Amino acid sequence: MKDASPQTIYLKDYTPFGWTAEEVHLTFVLAPSATRVRSRIRFAPNPDAPQQDFFLHGEQLKPISFAIDGAPVSPEITETGLTCAVPEGAFIWEAEVEIAPVENFALEGLYMSNGMYCTQCEAEGFRKITFYPDRPDVMSVFTVRIEGDETVKLSNGNPQGQGDGWAEWHDPWPKPAYLFALVAGDLVNHPGAFTTMSGREVELNLWVRPGDEGKCAFGMEALKKSMKWDEEVYGREYDLDIFNIVAVDDFNMGAMENKGLNIFNSSAVLASPETSTDANFERIEAIIAHEYFHNWTGNRITCRDWFQLCLKEGLTVFRDAQFTSDMRSAEVKRISDVIDLRGRQFPEDQGPLSHPVRPESFQEINNFYTATVYEKGAEVIGMLKTLVGDEAYAKALDLYFERHDGDAATIEDWLKVFEDATGRDLTQFKRWYSQAGTPHVAVSEAFENGTYTLTLKQHTPPTPGQPDKAPQVIPVAVGLLSPNGDEALPTKVLELTEAEQSFTFEGLSAKPVPSILRGFSAPVVLERETSKEERAFLLAHDTDTFNRWEASRDLARECLVAMITEGAEPDTAWLDGLEAVIRDSALDPAYRALMLGLPTQSELAQVLHQRGVTPDPDAIWTATETLKKTRAERWSKLLPQLAEEAKVTEPYQPDAEQSGKRALGSAVLALTSRLDGGEAAKAQFESADNMTLQLSALACLVQAGAGEDALAKFRAQWNGDRLVMDKWFGLQVAASGPSETADRAKALTEDPDFDMKNPNRFRAVMGALAMNHAGFHRIDGAGYQLLADWLIKLDEKNPQTTARMCSAFQTWKRYDETRRGLMKAQLERIAAKPGLSRDVTEMVTRLLS
Ligand code: PHE
Ligand code: ZN
Repeated sequence: MKDASPQTIYLKDYTPFGWTAEEVHLTFVLAPSATRVRSRIRFAPNPDAPQQDFFLHGEQLKPISFAIDGAPVSPEITETGLTCAVPEGAFIWEAEVEIAPVENFALEGLYMSNGMYCTQCEAEGFRKITFYPDRPDVMSVFTVRIEGDETVKLSNGNPQGQGDGWAEWHDPWPKPAYLFALVAGDLVNHPGAFTTMSGREVELNLWVRPGDEGKCAFGMEALKKSMKWDEEVYGREYDLDIFNIVAVDDFNMGAMENKGLNIFNSSAVLASPETSTDANFERIEAIIAHEYFHNWTGNRITCRDWFQLCLKEGLTVFRDAQFTSDMRSAEVKRISDVIDLRGRQFPEDQGPLSHPVRPESFQEINNFYTATVYEKGAEVIGMLKTLVGDEAYAKALDLYFERHDGDAATIEDWLKVFEDATGRDLTQFKRWYSQAGTPHVAVSEAFENGTYTLTLKQHTPPTPGQPDKAPQVIPVAVGLLSPNGDEALPTKVLELTEAEQSFTFEGLSAKPVPSILRGFSAPVVLERETSKEERAFLLAHDTDTFNRWEASRDLARECLVAMITEGAEPDTAWLDGLEAVIRDSALDPAYRALMLGLPTQSELAQVLHQRGVTPDPDAIWTATETLKKTRAERWSKLLPQLAEEAKVTEPYQPDAEQSGKRALGSAVLALTSRLDGGEAAKAQFESADNMTLQLSALACLVQAGAGEDALAKFRAQWNGDRLVMDKWFGLQVAASGPSETADRAKALTEDPDFDMKNPNRFRAVMGALAMNHAGFHRIDGAGYQLLADWLIKLDEKNPQTTARMCSAFQTWKRYDETRRGLMKAQLERIAAKPGLSRDVTEMVTRLLS
């Protein structure tokens, strides 16, 4: 068990390690419950570091022997590591430890998944493998020998030799320990090859369990596309002879960028049309790109310390978003990303877990792999690019790679290359990294004598530990439309730097309609009193596709808020405007599908809370249901026409074009099911030859309360497929009505195929419970209790996944007294659990503060 007494680590306390690790040799003698790890490391004093004791991290290691320069030594060992007297100059450190991968359910360090050995070392897992300075600023060249009977034995870098029962690998690129990886198992390979821009041949391999060979082709193609794109757009070439990817069923996150040996959650790489949805395919393509792009942004240039996590993650998310925009539709990607940001990052920023993109302290770094660090971190880079322009961005990135290749860098280094490349002072911009919270931008306007004035006021609500905020640099992309719908002023980026600032536009013949925050040019909340007519005008005429979508979203939100708070009827003017858009067959079906989306129930709860109204989850659910029904009835004639348009006649391809049609089709089917009780969905379910159609039909049937037969059939069809069965588990909870969500989820935890040790399965059920807004918030507290029960159980096995799921409670303070009391009681119950992990202790403490 981990040390539960919480110790806080501060950015300001950074000091370099007293030694450099010049060479690391590791030998693994594999055995499930007694793997031996021998290390031989050459350490030399680090001239840049202050005097300090020689301390190596190490947790849950059984010490066997230690030596310095060949002579046995007896270090002092604690729960967290060892200290040892060492010579003054350079020396050779040797250690042998024993670990038990088969008992490792935390999935950090060396563990086993379906009989396969694999590792996960980010952020601090290497210390569970051997004693080491487990910090990203200690970079070294690793040589690894693996001994075992497994047919496939992999590590980082290039293969150096193999024989009966052994294999050796050498990675020429110095790297921190968090990028170390080892895999051994009886795996099969889907091979590929790539010729780099300088003409080097790279061997590509995708390693999977026997039986999964048929799900590799798409991932392999995505890898090649990523390699090519990074050469073309960023000038970055791959730097080893071989690139291996391994699919693992038990994994805490999506995937990991270990040097030359990426390890993937099988859900983030395995795909086939029969078993994966269009959304799965798109996500897989993005994650493969993301991990591959880390080779430069993360591996060649890594982070000095974990406070700098956004240096690699924000940038790599930004890069993978660019890639997806290039491969698919940029407008669809942008809208999807904003939906995701508002759904995951805004709640984080607005609740007790709020933290800056670069946090200043933590207890458990695993708790900071957040939407703020990743997605807001990417938004910050997007703003930087908007402010300096595309050309200067490219120049700054070239300088970054040139100046910092091989470094463990900081946000200061990152901003400095932009300052040097552009001559700009980024002191104020840096607040995006240090100030938590989502800025609000209030807009007012005036028009006089042909001059139009926009006044922007910014204000960021207080967040934990940061009561007062200074103004940030906010790029606000604005366009002006003439009353007849023509563009009076094409997009222009206003730089808001003061608390309040006015911008004027001259020579206008009539008062224009402003289109503000085009493309969502900054991650802020826009506050603007706008008439419905003006929003409807933008929905009809805005030349910015993002803001056209946003206009409809705003109208949808106002419509729902009025229904919830005043019992209003659905806004028919908006529905008419929307109908015109979805009828427009010149528009991309994917875009029209997004137009048909509604704000989530949790987003509505957030909006109500911001307006001083206590959100009632049942009322929100009822209004949403009523609106859906109204839309179905209103559009009953249109739906068959749209369904026809959404039909794909060609063989299945998971590309943007076909996926867009299917997305429209499934939005239409959801509406149709509200009229026909699920008849059309049943027909689609029976005839579907791909998972996208099968699953969307199943969701409609469950939602209509007519899913029992189809669920049984689906299970019979897919029983042996873990990834598809995850969908079966999750969908039932996600699509069930609020009164039965918790009971469904509970029943599923009693299913023989529910395995809490598998994070995918656990998340399928518990994640869906937490996401079903009205179901989770059932007034008797059954949802809260069920989740807390399982979090308490899982913490004993897997603290990291448990801690991440605690965020389901992050909005607890916004609800009524009854619900608040019930949620608080569950958080306190979790907190009181004896032996609670450091990860979960930190999370519940922050949530309760
Ligand atoms: N670094 C991984 C990524 O973003 C995420 C990860 C973090 C995976 C920690 C495992 C553990 O690509
Ligand atoms: Zn990443």
